[in-house]
Amino acid sequence: MTYGPTTSPLLDPARLGSHRLANRLVIAPMTRNRAEPDGTPTPLMAEYYAQRATAGMIIAEASTPNAEGQTYPNITALHTDRHEAGWRRVVEAVRAAGGGPVFVQLQHGGRVGHPDTSGLTPVAPSPVPLPGTIHTPGGPRPSVMPREMTADDIRRTVRDFASAARRAVDAGFAGVEVHSANGHLLHQFLTSGTNRRTDGYGGGVDGRIRFATEVVAAVAEAIGPERTGLRVSPGNTVNGIAETDTETLYPALLAAVSGQGLACLHLAYADPDRPLFHRLRELWTGTLIANPVLPADRLPADGGRAAGERLLAAGADLVALGRPFLANPDLVARIRAGAPVNDVRAKYFMYTGGPVGYTDYPTYRAEPVGGAGGGR
Ligand SMILES: Cc1cc2nc3c(=O)[nH]c(=O)nc-3n(C[C@H](O)[C@H](O)[C@H](O)COP(=O)(O)O)c2cc1C
Repeated sequence: MTYGPTTSPLLDPARLGSHRLANRLVIAPMTRNRAEPDGTPTPLMAEYYAQRATAGMIIAEASTPNAEGQTYPNITALHTDRHEAGWRRVVEAVRAAGGGPVFVQLQHGGRVGHPDTSGLTPVAPSPVPLPGTIHTPGGPRPSVMPREMTADDIRRTVRDFASAARRAVDAGFAGVEVHSANGHLLHQFLTSGTNRRTDGYGGGVDGRIRFATEVVAAVAEAIGPERTGLRVSPGNTVNGIAETDTETLYPALLAAVSGQGLACLHLAYADPDRPLFHRLRELWTGTLIANPVLPADRLPADGGRAAGERLLAAGADLVALGRPFLANPDLVARIRAGAPVNDVRAKYFMYTGGPVGYTDYPTYRAEPVGGAGGGR
């Protein structure tokens, strides 16, 4: 690879509704477990996000809309005044650093939770436990049987999403992303392996998409559709999800939520070689954020640039990158300069806390001549 100034469509300015984005690069939501034990974002988190303010847009990490939805220790939350104040500091830090719009992801873990962490029995569409173990304050523990949500639980949870969304806007966020991906509660409702309900929230595709559809509608009503995004991960098997009808499920979900003027749809693990990507692009007339599939073990030397450009060529409007931004606060400048990227130090992703592997990734200019980045 030759290093030198370059142009890339990823660096072109873009719009998201009324927002002007300096470039088409979006930071994908990444849980980093650096919040206080009650879920309040810390000043260190404000520093982390402000370091990455040159991204066109930031989708801040999963934040739980109620205590029951907590997945892991030290994740962020958005259901108390304290949480809201902590997030306000984060948003203000990004704004002071000249950043673009910041959304926050709202995530309920459903069966991805543990009483040792939240003090509560996890809830889920059906009593089907998460396979294997889950991380708790005392380390990994066998997962527990979740409690099947009643109709009242469903109504209450939908309301909790809407109030968390209101708090997000009050904290200064430009909007929220409803998390219906990666095996969390909304995704658990979508798939028949985890949703064995016989009421109107289970059964065929129309029943299984209902909870996600209601959450999106309630959030859009609370804060406006132009502030509401949705993230999905068709076919992703993380957290024990096994979809059997991906090809019909997601077109049905998109049809159910479209027409409201939502801010964006975010496709995780978007693969332009899969026909489903093109089908969903055709169906979704609004802004499409696509998160490419990058190698799991190490970052590509171009930081995901080629994969991102392929997605733009295939019709995505914006490209979300996770780990490349995690390890490179100045990813945009590196792409512009054609500079090499730091690889991730994965052992600091979660559960370690503190600045190591979080706010200490070097910027390109700060590296010694010939240095290839922070490395491992
Ligand atoms: C440390 C870490 C935390 C993550 N947390 C979240 C999260 O809170 N919500 C979510 O939807 N995805 C989460 N993801 C998935 C990323 O958003 C992204 O889809 C994934 O890392 C693939 O993109 P990448 O190859 O650019 O990193 C996380 C990924 C990592 C590495």
